[in-house]
Amino acid sequence: MTVDTSSEELRRRAVDTLTRARDRTTLLTSSVEDNDLTAQHSPLMSPLVWDLAHIGNQEEQWLLRTVGGRDAIRPDIDSIYDAFEHPRSERPTLPLLAPAEARAYAADVRNRVIDVIERTPLHGAPLLDAGFAFGMIAQHEQQHDETMLITHQLRRGPAALTAPRPPAGDTTGLPSEVLVPAGRFTMGTTAEPWALDNERPAHQRLVPAFFIDTVPVTNGAYLHFVEDGGYAQERWWAPEGWAQIRQHGITAPLFWRQEGGQWLRRRFGVTEAVPADEPVLHVSWYEADAYARWAGRRLPSEEEWEKAARHDPATGRTLRYPWGDGEPTPEHANLGQRHLQPAPVGSYPKGASPLGVQQLIGDVWEWTSSDFLPYPGFVPFPYREYSEVFFGSEHKVLRGGSFAVDAVACRGTFRNWDLPVRRQIFSGFRTARDV
Ligand SMILES: [Fe+2]
Repeated sequence: MTVDTSSEELRRRAVDTLTRARDRTTLLTSSVEDNDLTAQHSPLMSPLVWDLAHIGNQEEQWLLRTVGGRDAIRPDIDSIYDAFEHPRSERPTLPLLAPAEARAYAADVRNRVIDVIERTPLHGAPLLDAGFAFGMIAQHEQQHDETMLITHQLRRGPAALTAPRPPAGDTTGLPSEVLVPAGRFTMGTTAEPWALDNERPAHQRLVPAFFIDTVPVTNGAYLHFVEDGGYAQERWWAPEGWAQIRQHGITAPLFWRQEGGQWLRRRFGVTEAVPADEPVLHVSWYEADAYARWAGRRLPSEEEWEKAARHDPATGRTLRYPWGDGEPTPEHANLGQRHLQPAPVGSYPKGASPLGVQQLIGDVWEWTSSDFLPYPGFVPFPYREYSEVFFGSEHKVLRGGSFAVDAVACRGTFRNWDLPVRRQIFSGFRTARDV
């Protein structure tokens, strides 16, 4: 008898990754009372109970019906949990499953999915190869977990979540910027088994030389911009960004306020002094762009970011992660909601790229100057609504993932996108300049 260990390994990976996502979903939806699950904490967000049943419904549609060929359990709720049919602002008015029902539904789907994983060959079709569909659904759940964590941050009231502080940082001897030499590198991926359609295919890019910040821009550096009157001077701002900060009276990152000469921030129900050495968080693309202009610099493009993160000049190879090809560990990066904040700069020297750029993965999503566009040779998979409908000049690309991103949804190639006005997301940035 021969045992197909690679299939067993893939099945175990599928089960482990889905279980890790569900444990996090359970934490996020059991740490508040039921009335907090059904309330809408911001018009930008869904009630948490919508996310919970939506996670179950997407899993039912893809893993039970499409992959498993099973009969539908709740076809009647497909429309309620269709993100394209109902914008977030409208979701509280829908006949949503109550918290207990939503929990039971998601658990029922998951129990049946475990059976599907055991019975389905993990090869022979693009959706099945290397267990792609299971990886896609685990990433989907983790992305909603990050969204739910944003809802937790927007929620008023006492802290519901706690986590240990991140490690201390040490920037002694670190240069402020790193030179990335001119030349070709391979961007994107074809081989990464669970990479999503917008990360594909691998292709060559010729990138002129540039300098990029060694670490993300810190609160301390950003405060210089604030205190230099950066929010009062139109010359630093893109016209739409200037209009937005004037219209909404924005004078600092979201969740910051000044009291008695001190800058404070609200973080998951706790008010605390803004720590100078942490990457700045909750800034829009317009704020990042204005800061960079004020500093005499610019945002890196997406291809510059990826080259700084993945290019190894010694071998010419493109790595999976800045530190190499191995999966992230707690020594490499601040990921997975292990901490409820970015780590101070200089905290993850083992996560540095071959060129010496640090904290590219984890901590804060980094705004880039690039619009969200398809790579040459892009093919929508497995559905147009995953990426293709968002391509265009409306959305800017963010890279690298935040402290709220799980490792399954974070790679050197992973692309996130959002509107340039958004600042409730876990967004920060670093700057660059031409040589
Ligand atoms: Fe979704």
